[in-house]
Amino acid sequence: MAKPPLSMKPTGWFQVAWSDEIAVGDVRTMKYFGQEMIAWRAESGALTVMNAYCEHLGAHLGYGGTVHGEVLQCPFHGWQWNQQGRNVCIPYEDRPNRGRRITTYPVIERNESVYIWHDTENREPFFDAPDVFAGFADGSTAADYYPQQRLFRQGLEMHPQYVLENGVDFAHFKYVHNTPIVPVFTRHDFDDPVSYVDFTITFEGDDGQRIEDVNSGVEAINGGLGIAVTKSWGMIDNRTISAITPVDESTSDVRFMVYIGRPAGEVRDPARAAAKAGEFGAEVIRQFSQDIHIWAHQRYSDPPALAGSELQGFTAIREWAKRFYPDGRGGSAAELAAHTR
Ligand code: FES
Ligand SMILES: [Fe+2]
Repeated sequence: MAKPPLSMKPTGWFQVAWSDEIAVGDVRTMKYFGQEMIAWRAESGALTVMNAYCEHLGAHLGYGGTVHGEVLQCPFHGWQWNQQGRNVCIPYEDRPNRGRRITTYPVIERNESVYIWHDTENREPFFDAPDVFAGFADGSTAADYYPQQRLFRQGLEMHPQYVLENGVDFAHFKYVHNTPIVPVFTRHDFDDPVSYVDFTITFEGDDGQRIEDVNSGVEAINGGLGIAVTKSWGMIDNRTISAITPVDESTSDVRFMVYIGRPAGEVRDPARAAAKAGEFGAEVIRQFSQDIHIWAHQRYSDPPALAGSELQGFTAIREWAKRFYPDGRGGSAAELAAHTR
């Protein structure tokens, strides 16, 4: 790919796993932000995500490390590390090494996902990860929806910002997703780290209709660059979560989740209704895959050749995005080159 001039070490919440992939006692290896990491779940259910190497002599804790109650034991010499990354036991000494600490990451489990807070400056989280139900404050819960359907694509040559830019890119819907008419944005709120985008959209009818007459749409909440959640209205009731996490300097993992709403009231044929929901979910995932096909081969265009009607939205989102980059600019290649000289 064309490596983007944007940092692959942005600040924010990023998905590193699904909760059900890490049972009690499991130790899972992963690589994100250029770091070897592990996630392990203690007896109590508490989940820890930390850098993978033991501070003693550098064993990789993901290869043979074992969970003992609330601590993780290194396979090499049996040193034990707690959920804050502190050494709590050297089995052949009277006291632990209180000085050394393995870097741990703030973790939250939400909507069946594991999110970590990543920040090169080690600041505390300064915004919350969005919740695909509570975020829309409409009283909905997972119980109102069929089970989550998922897409996982690993190591794609793309940057998280590409996905967020979809949130202002009205023109792509017609060409990538074959909507009959171009959607119209009704809200762009890029003041805070958590931003909001609403638009009117339809997948029905022909190109003779007017967008003013369309009675369906999508509301999106972007929690930084890593997580976006959406709610639809006026169409098949669905919620989605897209989560893009940088792996190294040129690739990202992409996770996409969709929930299809359960019908209200009595369902005559539950098996059939569930099968239908499965089909709808697959269709939503297929549409997201159409985007991935573009993103995974895209080159970040800066400055882009924007049409007049695109200027405001793209300017707003790119300005908003800068706050998440370590250099505070996420700016043009020329700017970055000047910065690193
Ligand atoms: S390397 Fe982990 S205990 Fe020695
Ligand atoms: Fe899209």
